Amino acid sequence: MSYFPDTSNQNLHAFAFSRRRAGHPSMKHKPVVIWMTGLSASGKSTIADALDIALQEQGRITAIIDGDSVRGGLCRDLGFTDSDRDENIRRVAEVARLMLEAGLIVIVALISPSSASRHFARSIIGNEFFVEVHVDAPLETAEKRDPKGLYKKARAGLIKNFTGIDSRYDVPVFPEVHLDTQALSVEQSVATILDWVAHNDGCT
Ligand code: ADX
Repeated sequence: MSYFPDTSNQNLHAFAFSRRRAGHPSMKHKPVVIWMTGLSASGKSTIADALDIALQEQGRITAIIDGDSVRGGLCRDLGFTDSDRDENIRRVAEVARLMLEAGLIVIVALISPSSASRHFARSIIGNEFFVEVHVDAPLETAEKRDPKGLYKKARAGLIKNFTGIDSRYDVPVFPEVHLDTQALSVEQSVATILDWVAHNDGCT
């Protein structure tokens, strides 16, 4: 998969807007997409929530796009086959890109299991604005946590294509940030991401 806008409709003429993707120099932060990937129950949403609060406390304008939420709305027509997940990730990346262009720090929490789909999201958003965060919890740990009881259902065969059980998760090879959730508290995970953002976006 590689990203290029769909140019098949000859009647579309994208206007060349003058807005800068990196934001206006007067802005307090460089807009960026913090893309969290990891197994279900790895802690993505919990860390996203705490990160959101921490960024807001710093006066930054943020947005969260969370898998379980978008799947009830924007992506309600999609399931969990590989191609539906790819489409889920494509839509979220396109929305994140629009938010990025509006100047926000966008926090995405999606399993986004395939490295190809994450690469695709990166190409939609732009490498310079894409921060891949691997929220790393071993399958055994995620399964032990099982806050929604989904692993149990998947083991019982009641849910098909469940990530880690009968659907694959490609471990990120070179994420910008790696969070070992067994070793780090939520606060430490947030601090690790904030540290990365502070050292890489020239925030004031
Ligand atoms: S993704 O693979 O397309 O990125 P996404 O993050 O949107 O997944 O949705 C994952 C959430 O959907 C999980 O946290 C879980 O609550 C729910 N879910 C329901 N069915 C499945 C499944 N088969 N595999 C993984 N998650 C599932």
